[in-house]
Amino acid sequence: MDSQLEQLRAASLAEIAAAGDEGAVETVRVKYLGRSGSISGLSEAMKTVSKEDKPRLGKLLNETRNAVTAALDERKTALAAAADALAFADVDVTLPGTAPQLGSLHPITQLQDRAIQIFRRMGFALADGPDIEDEWHCFDALNTPADHPARNEQDTFYLPDGRLLRTHTSTVQIRTMEKAAPPVRIIAPGAAYRRDEIDATHLAQFTQMEGLYVDEGVSVADLKGTLEFFFRELFGSDAKFRFRPHFFPFTEPSFEVDIKAGAFGGGERWLEIAGCGMVDPAVFEQVNGRRRDTAYDPEKYTGFAFGFGLDRLAMIMSGVPDIRAFTDNDQRFLAQF
Ligand code: DAH
Repeated sequence: MDSQLEQLRAASLAEIAAAGDEGAVETVRVKYLGRSGSISGLSEAMKTVSKEDKPRLGKLLNETRNAVTAALDERKTALAAAADALAFADVDVTLPGTAPQLGSLHPITQLQDRAIQIFRRMGFALADGPDIEDEWHCFDALNTPADHPARNEQDTFYLPDGRLLRTHTSTVQIRTMEKAAPPVRIIAPGAAYRRDEIDATHLAQFTQMEGLYVDEGVSVADLKGTLEFFFRELFGSDAKFRFRPHFFPFTEPSFEVDIKAGAFGGGERWLEIAGCGMVDPAVFEQVNGRRRDTAYDPEKYTGFAFGFGLDRLAMIMSGVPDIRAFTDNDQRFLAQF
């Protein structure tokens, strides 16, 4: 039995060393250590050996079993390590990794942030108001009479309860003056809604920025200076502007601001970019009525207001021909900003 054990040990260790994969290692294990394997067979035979041989042979059998078990484990580990090494053989771990694709702020958000920064430098504070408004804040307080076309069903989204989606951010002028006495100097960026047919230059929801400055002695010169500073910061100091007389119910006099398209390689054309004017005293009176005081005394205070579309500005600045590109959510478009 001694020699049998020796032989088994030598043979099994040789077979383990020769096993080329995990499956082959397992075959060798079953062959020697499995329930009907050779070493298990010898354990059975131990029952029949003489008393004096038993301790020695028992010890030898144990040593053999341990040696084979250890060799099997070692071989398995070595094979796994070799497989890992092979899998990574073609990988150069010193190469730079593939950077994950990062998103960016939406182009309208980027422009809005820039605009806010510029006005902040001139002392304008951020203000806001609700998107769902009442007719008074959207129209009456802004001196827009009941028969004005802007109040028409066809231009405004009305809710069943008579409220509406604000058609402009000018509502925030009123909400600001209701809460705070002059002086006020605010900008209000936000969404506006109109029942326009959606096409290359119209969306049912777009983004505006409103401004209001009320104090003693505010003049048209302040209005011009403020807007020209703002647009020059945005378009460059060479940009050419003109203030064209216009009509808005809530300002008197009112103007539209045009910019020479040359500022963005567009030649001699004038492009309309904003509406503005001196706050109509009738607006102050509406606010006073609500406030139940005379904080906005038109004899004492004057103010200017302005409003422009951020989508339209972004289109002009970046040469985007179709406003719908801003809401299509096409990565190929958005990733360019
Ligand atoms: N609310 C106007 C619009 O939506 C824009 C505007 C014009 C705002 C003149 C003003 C302003 O504050 O004074 O077209």
